Amino acid sequence: MIVTIDGPAGSGKSTISKMLAKELGATFLDTGAMYRAVTLAAIADDIDLADEDALFGVLESKQFEFNTHDNQMEVKINGIDATEGIRRPDITINVKYIAKAAKIRKKLVDMQRKFAKKHDKIVTEGRDQGTIAFPNADYKFFLIADVEERARRRHAEFTEKGLNIDLDVLEKDIRKRDESDTTRKNGPLIKAGGAIEIDSTKLDAEAVVKKILQHINP
Ligand code: DC
Repeated sequence: MIVTIDGPAGSGKSTISKMLAKELGATFLDTGAMYRAVTLAAIADDIDLADEDALFGVLESKQFEFNTHDNQMEVKINGIDATEGIRRPDITINVKYIAKAAKIRKKLVDMQRKFAKKHDKIVTEGRDQGTIAFPNADYKFFLIADVEERARRRHAEFTEKGLNIDLDVLEKDIRKRDESDTTRKNGPLIKAGGAIEIDSTKLDAEAVVKKILQHINP
């Protein structure tokens, strides 16, 4: 069984997908972590982020491992743990260069399909899971929320980690990411045919998961 959860930054995809995977006894796949991992490796190697061939070379020349343990995605690059590193703010800002590189997207989508083959049930979240990676998924969902609410959620996450980042800055970052996610030529963020749209602006995570489960187990 494949369940896809797509949506913009801060729409609650990760939280919802992890909770849903737990409810369904499924494995969670965070595809954003894959784009982030390539970004981290490219920055570490001082690669020109505008050079798509060089970026693809990074993906080809290093060993990237994505495994789910206890519903958490663990990321390793050449055997070294990068689970925390891929969340750095400079990775979030620069991931757009990797996300628009066609050859990288193709290879990461192949890896996502291989991951799906290895597991009986997956809940996979990203931007193109219901459109490109798994157009024949059993269930597709598209999560949305107002940009102000998405910025507030990011702010709360950073505050919990002891980081004080201005709410306005976060809102601007999210707007920029929406722009690059929706306008890129390859794998843009778009609601898949047959996807059920859920607006989480006024719902907590439990309520969203409940709504999704009503569609899966009516
Ligand atoms: O979900 P996230 O914030 O970790 O994703 C980081 C970036 O990765 C996002 O801005 C665009 C890119 N991405 C993508 O292009 N396709 C996906 N399936 C998942 C993420």
